[in-house]
Amino acid sequence: MSSLRSLHSLLTAALLCLATLVAVPGPAHAAQPVTYDFESGTQGWAPRGDGVSVTASSELARSGTASLLVTGRSENWHGAVVAPGFAEGRTYAVTAFARAVAGESTIALTVQRTPDGGDTVYERVAAATVGDTGWVELSGRYTFTGASTDLQLYAESSDPAAAYRLDDVTITEEPGSGDGNGTSTDFETGTVQGWRARASATLAATPAAARQGGYGLAVSDRSASWDGPALDVLPVMAKGAKYTASVWVRPEEATSLGLSIERRSGDTPSYDQIAAPREVAAGQWTELKGTYTLGHDVDFLAVYVESASGTTPFAVDDFTLAHVPAVPIQRDIPALKDVLGFTIGTAVQRPQTLGEHGELLRRHFESVTPGNQLKWDATEPREGEFTFAEGDHLVDYAHANGLKVRGHTLAWHSQTPDWVFEGTKADVLRRLENHIRAVAGRYKGRLYAWDVVNEVVDENQPDGLRRSKWFQTTGLDYIRTAFRVAREVDPDAKLYINDYNTEFPRKRRALYELVRKLRAEGVPIDGVGHQLHVNIEQPHASEIEETIELIAGLGVDQQVTELDVSVYTDFVQSYPEIPAALLLKQGHRYKEIFDVFRRQSGHLNSVTLWGLADDDTWLSTFPITRLNAPLLFDDRLQAKPAYWGVADPARLEPLVHDVEVPEGTPKIDGRRDREWDLLPDVRLARNGDLSAGIQFRRSAKGLSVLAEVTDPARDGQDAVTVTVGGTDHVIRRTGPHAKGLRAHVGKTSGGYRVEALLPAGASGAGGVRLTVRDASSQDALVWAGEMTPVPAVRTTTAARGTPQIDGTVDAVWARAPEIRTATWVQGSAGATARVRTLWDAGRLHVLARVSDPRLSEESPDPWQQDSVEIFVDADNGKTKGYGDDDGQYRISFTGRRTVGGPLDPAAIEGNLTSAVRQVPGGYVVEATIGLPTAALGGDALLGFDVQVNDATGASRTAAVTWSDPTGRAHLSTARWGVLGFAR
Ligand code: XIL
Repeated sequence: MSSLRSLHSLLTAALLCLATLVAVPGPAHAAQPVTYDFESGTQGWAPRGDGVSVTASSELARSGTASLLVTGRSENWHGAVVAPGFAEGRTYAVTAFARAVAGESTIALTVQRTPDGGDTVYERVAAATVGDTGWVELSGRYTFTGASTDLQLYAESSDPAAAYRLDDVTITEEPGSGDGNGTSTDFETGTVQGWRARASATLAATPAAARQGGYGLAVSDRSASWDGPALDVLPVMAKGAKYTASVWVRPEEATSLGLSIERRSGDTPSYDQIAAPREVAAGQWTELKGTYTLGHDVDFLAVYVESASGTTPFAVDDFTLAHVPAVPIQRDIPALKDVLGFTIGTAVQRPQTLGEHGELLRRHFESVTPGNQLKWDATEPREGEFTFAEGDHLVDYAHANGLKVRGHTLAWHSQTPDWVFEGTKADVLRRLENHIRAVAGRYKGRLYAWDVVNEVVDENQPDGLRRSKWFQTTGLDYIRTAFRVAREVDPDAKLYINDYNTEFPRKRRALYELVRKLRAEGVPIDGVGHQLHVNIEQPHASEIEETIELIAGLGVDQQVTELDVSVYTDFVQSYPEIPAALLLKQGHRYKEIFDVFRRQSGHLNSVTLWGLADDDTWLSTFPITRLNAPLLFDDRLQAKPAYWGVADPARLEPLVHDVEVPEGTPKIDGRRDREWDLLPDVRLARNGDLSAGIQFRRSAKGLSVLAEVTDPARDGQDAVTVTVGGTDHVIRRTGPHAKGLRAHVGKTSGGYRVEALLPAGASGAGGVRLTVRDASSQDALVWAGEMTPVPAVRTTTAARGTPQIDGTVDAVWARAPEIRTATWVQGSAGATARVRTLWDAGRLHVLARVSDPRLSEESPDPWQQDSVEIFVDADNGKTKGYGDDDGQYRISFTGRRTVGGPLDPAAIEGNLTSAVRQVPGGYVVEATIGLPTAALGGDALLGFDVQVNDATGASRTAAVTWSDPTGRAHLSTARWGVLGFAR
């Protein structure tokens, strides 16, 4: 019997070796007990400690004929040790029998392991008092979490010198504990390792498909974009648990590949993306990876690789699906709902209600918004066919846990099936009415608010209304119908109009006008929802405050409905890991924004974040797939600086701002010269009624400082202190200034203006600090910066005049001064342009005479073709990232036009007209850029730049601008030059 067992354990050990070789699930997947009976020797047990010896001895045995004898010990921890093959997250029952050779001591079984990046730990598994008269059973359970190495299981004794015996050590994985631990396949066995085709594709393990090692999986003969390899993962995933998945793919032709998961409950399949499809070059190995939390009870679960379109063959290798053990949430930090004076909510889907996520949700939040489950595509995918399972689940959960629910959303242009918009206006309105009756009716009395319409404003339209299919077929009537029906169906729900970018001045205005008009007609709009998808830089918190104050004038409720703070300012950048400094900055950004909410809590009854924690955010795939961290808790559900910015800003490390200091010599006279107008003031976060905007210039004479202070109550002790080079320079509102300090204070409406010249700061580099003190309120603003010197802001002037846009240079151009492109952003020689600008009502005209003897349009990328780019920012915002009025207008030497800029450049595309003529040695571009929203002329200033792209064959070999030296003019307007207007 025992020898049978021992054979079994050897077999298991052999299997284990094989298992690690082929990388099928780890040891405990054998799920068979491992037994050490020492009938065939020490069976892998070894001495632990100097002088110790372990032998299989047949003098005494608990069963069979042998046991393990441990002698020569001289320390408590000396004994016998074995590598136990424990896997993370699983639970093992461990039993052993021990007997002392003489006397009595405590004998224990202990695990030693070293967590990744941590110190070695020792964990007791089982212990008992053991004497020399009989066998005593030691038994216990053991589990560990957190990746660890060097696992050892050993026996020790409280008596350092005791000799003892061990027998019948058994390690049994507890049933079910192996579930949910993930799996991996590397095809090194030369077999497909469980992968199968979703339809008729052919799968084979071949050397040609190997990324590393000897084999990979070749996938060919695909019948559709979704046909490819699938692996059943039901046995290795658990509900509520989180996984990271990774797979390497190599397509034969360039295509977009993604990793998805199909789940079925009953007969209904659902598909989730783990890694959204991304472009993969032909023949290139690329990793697809993402995380996934199984939120549902399922009876079928399979991961698969698919393409966005086409059926190109591809190779797959090195798939891993790894369980990410949950870290307990922090229970020693304040609950957000206890520290805020308004309702705090978050968007949720099923995974946020489970396990530790659910704990975090219930601890901090009072309100939830189903992120997708009440949208049209989720609730009425086909006409008259309503599906409420997911919505019901979340609403029931919320009610069971005392959470309020916001409904989102009844009418939207996105996530709405096409059939909704077929037919006549009457058809469309009838479907809308039916939909709202069904959906709002279902949840009557259970949701406290509804986003009745979502994203209906477009400030770039003359009437401020988005040209959605709703609008195209019904005009404003869909909004009227939606509110009327929603009110009728659920009279107790507060009805909201919800939108993004409401903090942008023009959109804010358009929204205001729309709500005013509709309410005047009697449309039952109770409130305005501000989505507030903002980023780490923009918009300034004061813009949010201005929006709330403006909308308050309408006498409606207001809520923040979808707050998150992207760490990116453009649609291109992507960090492999988010720098800690950026997370700190985000903490301060959240503080600044919540300072606004706190001040405005009289107008704002609720703030909802668009997500619970960074492990699940829509910004990880929108507008591109990239790592993002926009929320208050990190991907392990732990509090970020962002959380502290909201809950207790005093706990944030202080922030040092980066500030670029251009060369410049403004007059120090208390008046605001044009030099200061070239750039926007850096706005300091407001404190009470005190706020300020500041700027710096450098010259050989010193650092010029401007502070525009808003502080209505004049007090002799009001002062601005500038600290540079270790010295405080105090400039009092009412003077006098310290002897030798060149400073002037001017009066402004609502406050005062300080100008000062500080010789110590002449380099425009190093640290600088500003403190603005309001003596009457005792408030202060403190700001610290690290300065980087940059060249003077470039300026030019547009002359008044109207050229013919035909590629011939009219005489009128001679009125305008000429500028040249000479700031190389790629290479140091190549095509350049001489540029002039003219203006007339609402339009800017640009002439670029390009010298470029060899012209090419070979590259498919427009920026790699010989071309001129004109950059225009109607409000000279000098922002990181593009605002909706910023444009990049590109014209190739053959007249091809491409427009870039805001997320949706369609809005500005119509602004450009152009003509191009090739001339000996180059080409002439004439362009007109319509600026319908800008006031031109007078003292107005535009952000402006010109770039010349020089192509050689199929690639760009040089690029030169007039102003921007960063090579990022297409992503940021911060370093463009400035254009003013002549009469
Ligand atoms: C997003 C969801 O978070 C995503 O899961 C989904 O794929 C797309 O929609 N504005 C809105 C929300 O009003 O409904 C959007 O939610 C984010 C932008």
